[in-house]
Amino acid sequence: MSPVNNLVLGANGQLGQALQQVWAASKVTAWDIEELDITRLEVVRKMLEQLRPCTVINAAAYTRVDDAETDWEAAFRVNALGPRNLALATGELGIPLVQISTDYVFDGKSTRPYHEFDRPNPLSVYGCSKWAGEEAVRAANPKHYIVRTAWLYHTAGKNFPSTICGLGRQGDVRVVNDQFGSPTYAPHLAAGIDRLLETQAYGTYHLAGAGGTSWYDFTCRLFQEVGIQSTVLPISSDQFPRPAARPPYGVLTTIQDPFILLPSWEEGVRAFANAWNQ
Ligand SMILES: NC(=O)c1ccc[n+]([C@@H]2O[C@H](COP(=O)([O-])OP(=O)(O)OC[C@H]3O[C@@H](n4cnc5c(N)ncnc54)[C@H](OP(=O)(O)O)[C@@H]3O)[C@@H](O)[C@H]2O)c1
Repeated sequence: MSPVNNLVLGANGQLGQALQQVWAASKVTAWDIEELDITRLEVVRKMLEQLRPCTVINAAAYTRVDDAETDWEAAFRVNALGPRNLALATGELGIPLVQISTDYVFDGKSTRPYHEFDRPNPLSVYGCSKWAGEEAVRAANPKHYIVRTAWLYHTAGKNFPSTICGLGRQGDVRVVNDQFGSPTYAPHLAAGIDRLLETQAYGTYHLAGAGGTSWYDFTCRLFQEVGIQSTVLPISSDQFPRPAARPPYGVLTTIQDPFILLPSWEEGVRAFANAWNQ
């Protein structure tokens, strides 16, 4: 049997790095935009034809949610055309494709956690571009896993916990308490994707830290676990306006096989704090 060779795209990002940590070097090829720009269809086709990986995991994305409101063309190129290109190329070669998506495909009006078959209705350009990417993948490669995650963070990379812990070391912080979601520690998501690939049950999956919380409670737990003494002051979203609308309630749950469930968001915070404090 030939050795497994998974191809991770967006390798320098938070999830890209976590996936490389889950898989030994012998099991993964890791490329970022310097090696392969996913917006270039003919290059994508040529590179995949040459490499012939077992599975392609697309962790590459335009993730600057607020910038996307004005820079919409770039967001759609990377988040919609990129996955479309990958789905065409992998579909032609019969290779499974994992496309990472987001809770921002939902409008946040639900009063219970969103499952895989709830109807998307994105509020922002970023959410629209990610939803378009999902649809393109479904259309072009039947061997797809669409993995929606949320509030992703890692000790490597720019993200909310790293920023707020940095601010909390300098003094008190103000954090919104009326937006709810599922904080997801990237190494937990990477391990979940690894388990998912074993199933060969193609489809749409919600893989996020189990349970839901607000940014405010998330920060309180973070400070407690990391050992930051500063006060966390609750504020409303109106007091912290941003260019892109966020779903007020984006908690994700799954009705798929419990085998793929991720640890709770609290366990994610604990694991992050252990790594952060080293
Ligand atoms: N971060 C979150 O809170 C969150 C929440 C829900 C879902 N997600 C999804 O989860 C996935 C991983 O997110 P992440 O936080 O790990 O993202 P990230 O840290 O922003 O990493 C994305 C990587 O993709 C690269 N990239 C951008 N354009 C590219 C292109 N045309 N071709 C190849 N690579 C390109 C980026 O390079 P540059 O840095 O040079 O642009 C970056 O290295 C994404 O699909 C994202 O939409 C993220």
